[in-house]
Amino acid sequence: MERLPYYQVLHLLSLAVLSAHTFMAFANPAPENRKRTMMITGIAALLMLVSGFAMLSLNKIPLMSTGWVWVKLVCWLGLSGLAGIAYRRPHLRGVLSTIALVLVATALVMVYFRPF
Ligand code: HEM
Repeated sequence: MERLPYYQVLHLLSLAVLSAHTFMAFANPAPENRKRTMMITGIAALLMLVSGFAMLSLNKIPLMSTGWVWVKLVCWLGLSGLAGIAYRRPHLRGVLSTIALVLVATALVMVYFRPF
């Protein structure tokens, strides 16, 4: 049985959910939505990480010697924390959304071009 496509779907689906709810937090950082957003983005971030490591293992990609994976890990870490910051510092939403876009773009360039 080919397991890779399941992890690919999980990885991309959780990326979509994480990004969507992060940008929803930027658009409306109302305190009453905070708990729900933190729960959804937390679960999505976890699923993204787990599916990422599952694909590393299935594709036999060695973590230690693969620069693009480390860069993706940093992007993932940054993206995962942005929604929480938006609730605490709502005036920074403009900057935060630019940062989110740059982090996602960097992670995409890493996986599709694999410069190092
Ligand atoms: C913001 C962060 C991230 C974004 C935007 C992202 C995006 C993507 C995309 C678009 C793919 C291509 C899916 C496909 O066609 O197979 C992919 C694959 C992959 N990602 Fe991520 N990802 C992120 C974080 C991570 C993290 C943290 C890890 C490691 C734990 C990871 C590991 C992988 C692996 C191993 C693949 C499969 C590469 C291959 O085909 O050999 N990703 N990611």
